[in-house]
Amino acid sequence: MNEQLHQITLNFSDGVSRTFGVAPGGNILDAALASEMPVLYQCRSGGCSSCICSLAEGEAVTQPGASTSLLGSEYEAGQRLLCVSQANTDCTFNLGYGSEVGAGAAHEVHAFVDSVERIASNVMRVTLELADGEWMEFLPGQFMQIVVPGLGVLRSYSPSSTQAILPKMEFLIRLLPGGAMSGFLENQVEVDQVLTLSGPYGAFFLREEHKRAPHIFVAGGTGLAPILSMIDTLRQSGGRKPPMLLSFGCAVPEALFSLDDIELRKQWLPTLEARICVDREATEGLHLGSPVSALREGDVTSPDTVAYLCGPQPMIDAATQRLIELGVRAENIFAEQFVASH
Ligand code: FES
Repeated sequence: MNEQLHQITLNFSDGVSRTFGVAPGGNILDAALASEMPVLYQCRSGGCSSCICSLAEGEAVTQPGASTSLLGSEYEAGQRLLCVSQANTDCTFNLGYGSEVGAGAAHEVHAFVDSVERIASNVMRVTLELADGEWMEFLPGQFMQIVVPGLGVLRSYSPSSTQAILPKMEFLIRLLPGGAMSGFLENQVEVDQVLTLSGPYGAFFLREEHKRAPHIFVAGGTGLAPILSMIDTLRQSGGRKPPMLLSFGCAVPEALFSLDDIELRKQWLPTLEARICVDREATEGLHLGSPVSALREGDVTSPDTVAYLCGPQPMIDAATQRLIELGVRAENIFAEQFVASH
């Protein structure tokens, strides 16, 4: 009965509010989806943080037995993962994205392989073209899951391209010894082969509301892919371009890739500065050290600076700490952990 439901209000960042009911003890994300709320989610098991939001009013707790990737301090500060939360009272949550963002529900599409090219010692560039009549809108930074043919397993990749070149899409895929997708790309893939993708997923995407603020991008390895999509989206959007700093790193020079693409973007975008880093064997023009160590005093010129980080978790943790030290507000730092999956 309706009077037994707790009323949940979602405040989206574009000022839109939506309300729905959830039974006491019921899963908030399940109820939100049943009511067709435009919320982001992916794993539905507390692991990916796509469904993160902050509790503004009321009492909502993690469901008994559920696991969550939130830190204790984040939970104390009011952060909640909707997919593992239940409401004990009426609640209001603030979401870090607009109501339009989650409206494009994830779905499955098919795409033809256009080209596969090794662009570094352990990176392949794969271009795909969506099959006739199929379409996938996505925000720069979001990711898709691709089924590895023959094995049926899923691997997650963010396009390095933008919506502007749809139906074509480009992915930068790291090769891992013994990896399912790596084995397929190295030994079996054929041009015109059909792949199955689903998406878009994820809450890591370029924030419209910050698009005039100075941007700092920190990328490790193929964490560069979503960052290139973001930089290109800023390049293609109208009006004055914000100052942008890209710090990108790999282990050694032969592992670096897309340097020509970055150089070209610097020519198109005079407001873009790039620092290319290697952990060892630095040659001329390369910074020796991590992309975090390349960040310096003076890089943060405005309190409104926004930062996007994509790479391994230790890089994200170090970059977050360094950027806060340099004056970036914690709420303006967005990150996606790049998880290697065999
Ligand atoms: S959907 Fe992944 S943590 Fe909630």
